[in-house]
Amino acid sequence: MKKVSTLLLIVISFSLISWNSYDDFFAFTPTNKLSDLLLEYGDKKQTHYRENPAAELIERGKSLVYNGRAMGPDGKMGPFISKYFACTSCHNQVQEDPIITQFDPQARLEYAAENNLKFLPATTFWGIYNRESWYNDDYVLKYGDLVTAASKSLEESTQLCAKVCSSGRYLDEWELEAILAYYESIQLTVDDLNLTEEDFNYLKSDASNQDKLARIKSKYALKSPATFPKNPDNKIEGYAGLIGDPTNGKKVYELSCQACHQDGGVSPILLDDAKVTFKKFNNNLDKNGLWNLYDIIVHGTYADKGKPRYMPHYPEERLSPQQIEDLRAYVVQQAQ
Ligand code: HEC
Ligand code: HEC
Repeated sequence: MKKVSTLLLIVISFSLISWNSYDDFFAFTPTNKLSDLLLEYGDKKQTHYRENPAAELIERGKSLVYNGRAMGPDGKMGPFISKYFACTSCHNQVQEDPIITQFDPQARLEYAAENNLKFLPATTFWGIYNRESWYNDDYVLKYGDLVTAASKSLEESTQLCAKVCSSGRYLDEWELEAILAYYESIQLTVDDLNLTEEDFNYLKSDASNQDKLARIKSKYALKSPATFPKNPDNKIEGYAGLIGDPTNGKKVYELSCQACHQDGGVSPILLDDAKVTFKKFNNNLDKNGLWNLYDIIVHGTYADKGKPRYMPHYPEERLSPQQIEDLRAYVVQQAQ
């Protein structure tokens, strides 16, 4: 009996301790918004910071992102941003990486399969509000001046993508405000950080605000990395040392390629499950051009004057060389 009550006491006091620290903690993060938590520790407001945007503004932003246009403040339906795409053609709107500090394309593919998500070339808008740079790494290295300003500003990268990536136009002031409001509404929450008891204690300790901010910022990704892949040295051999798994390749084909190349998708070029389609890829494995799997994934297609609809290429963090080999293995298998 004594044993049991001691145990009970330990359990109760333990749960009280954790309950208390969590409770204390939420005393100053009642909104549960990550941006509020950062401000609490003296972080600077980013230029895109918007305090508690109105629900109406958020809805307008959501409509722009999902439908490509929205009802303006004047009560009239605005024009489409792009004739070809909505933001959702290339960007998911929910969590897509199971561990939010890691960009593992295979973990993301499996997460997409489990959660009924598309596996897309561009990054999710979920948490984009909390990032600190955009169009990173090779985007800056390879595109230079076109993306320098955008890489430092969520407003600029939104404008750049509305105009250039979407083959569309620059946003009006009210449209940009609405999209920023929408991003704010799908920012990370304190819960998403999975803070541990140790983290809570650290945040309550007398460590400096700067150190506390660093601790918080190690719990999520400050940017979405982008490394541009190269073609394999020899297209027939494929990427050296990698052996494709057709079962995984099927997932890539269905969740990624067919996300756009299906009936009613953004490209009228159908990539269906017919043998002829797979044969076309199979017959082009040793050739250069759009129907070569490596070329199309590594380079995408270009938006030209006469042909503004185009396919974005995939950074390695979005589709890995291993996954490209998996896709190839699937295509070869289905072509038999
Ligand atoms: C045809 C595909 C496509 C469409 C449509 C598109 N984007 Fe993008 N977007 C990209 C690609 C590719 C990138 C490169 C960086 C990344 O996301 O990996 C990007 C990057 C961005 C970024 C910076 C992301 C980061 O963290 O690096 C923002 C912001 C953005 N897009 C906003 C928009 C908005 C708003 C729309 C709709 C008006 C839109 N995009 C439509 C393909 C697209
Ligand atoms: C974000 C949407 C999107 C995704 C994802 C996508 N594509 Fe595309 N793809 C396009 C668009 C748009 C074009 C340009 C052709 C058009 O529709 O006018 C294109 C063009 C192509 C072409 C050239 C067709 C031709 O004859 O001009 C091939 C081949 C192709 N895609 C294969 C793929 C494969 C393989 C995948 C998956 C790894 C894939 N696409 C993923 C949108 C996409």
